[in-house]
Amino acid sequence: MGARSGGRAGAGPWLGLTQAPRGFALVVTLAPPLIVFGIVTVLLADLFWGTRLLGTDPVKAGEHLLGEWTIYLLFASLTITPLRGITGWNWLARHRRTLGLYAFLAVVFHFVVWLFLDLQFVVSEYVGWATLETDLTKRPYIILGMTGLLLMTPLAITSTQGMIRRLGRRWQRLHRLVYLIAVLGVVHWGMSVKKDLTEPVLAALVLAVLFGWRIAAARRRRAERVA
Ligand code: HEM
Repeated sequence: MGARSGGRAGAGPWLGLTQAPRGFALVVTLAPPLIVFGIVTVLLADLFWGTRLLGTDPVKAGEHLLGEWTIYLLFASLTITPLRGITGWNWLARHRRTLGLYAFLAVVFHFVVWLFLDLQFVVSEYVGWATLETDLTKRPYIILGMTGLLLMTPLAITSTQGMIRRLGRRWQRLHRLVYLIAVLGVVHWGMSVKKDLTEPVLAALVLAVLFGWRIAAARRRRAERVA
């Protein structure tokens, strides 16, 4: 058990699973991109072939689904380390980066749908930067989303094995930004909903539990070093 996972020293893995169940890696690798590309495909089908799979406002529905999947995948990635620590399933570790990258894929499409389909941004003399400016003042939560996307970009770029090696300890420090990104994403979500805050509040609670676990694990590690 790696020290960083804050783990169960001495105990064997839960259910005796020293290796991932068959097909697990395949599901984790294929399901998220299928979902993200699936949403985009259905959205395009609604727009170009009038299929109405996403209801009366496919752009809004697609934008929302992609935003939600960004959060789900980001949270799934953040859950890997605590889950690994609790269960001793070290084979989960390799999926943390993949899930983070898929969250980035989802947010890029979320952004593209917002910019070109929701806002209908076109750089020209008449429409373009002004539309963008109006939307940013009208919906300030978009600034938080943009900050989240900007912060996710260097994390995605530096997620190759070569970069991990090259950056060493700095890589870990840089990738701690993922917590700030998650906070920005949840606040952005909370500010964007008009009435029912249940889902963003639940997301904030999950995030608080994940943070709590991290802090407790860091304290435990420090205490072990001192002892
Ligand atoms: C440039 C970056 C971003 C832009 C422009 C953007 C824009 C938007 C817009 C326009 C909405 C729909 C609000 C509405 O009309 O009801 C939305 C919702 C949402 N966004 Fe973003 N967003 C960005 C980044 C992010 C990031 C980084 C995350 C997560 C980490 C995220 C997660 C969400 C979620 C969860 C929702 C709510 C979905 C729902 O209500 O079902 N967004 N975003």
